[in-house]
Amino acid sequence: MAKLIGLKKVKTAIFISGTGSNLESLIKFSLSKNSPIKINLIVSNNSKAKGLELAKIFKIKKKIYNFKNKSVSEKFILKDLKNNEIRLICLAGFMKILSKDFIKRFKGKILNIHPSLLPKYRGLDTHARVINNKEKYSGCTVHYVNSKLDAGRIILQKKVRVSKRDNAESLKIKILKQEHKLYPKAVIKILTNL
Ligand code: GRF
Repeated sequence: MAKLIGLKKVKTAIFISGTGSNLESLIKFSLSKNSPIKINLIVSNNSKAKGLELAKIFKIKKKIYNFKNKSVSEKFILKDLKNNEIRLICLAGFMKILSKDFIKRFKGKILNIHPSLLPKYRGLDTHARVINNKEKYSGCTVHYVNSKLDAGRIILQKKVRVSKRDNAESLKIKILKQEHKLYPKAVIKILTNL
């Protein structure tokens, strides 16, 4: 990642499938004076993703791919990434699994945020599983993406206390709040080697 350090802001693409609250926090972060990134592209597999509204609000280019044929969609994405000189990809609630080939082409330059303390609770329905198992703590993790699901090298984690009154929904809200702080911190960490 050292290569990414420079005077110019690193052109970044954010991949989303849904609400886009992490996208929003990353956009706001990118607009702050000391941010090392500029968000040039929003990619989604879902044309109805609420987060896409942010593209209009913040005047960021957006691209939608249906992923009916993954390798075709990925080819087009790679082309768009190249055309927009993208050097960093942040997955933020992106519900498609990228191919090994795609990941190889962007090796060490794709990040993801997951709402658990990885390596615990990889995959879906994290919060419900945490509640069912009566865990005392959960949290969120920003990690590099490799070809295994939610398994790449961890960049940063934030622990969150699960209270006895929490259910999956309240825990989700609690953890999302922390996600919004953690993702920008992780981006700073990898781009400035802090
Ligand atoms: C977040 O909980 C993130 O950790 C997970 O998907 C959710 C996306 O939420 N990967 P949002 O679309 O950013 O609001």
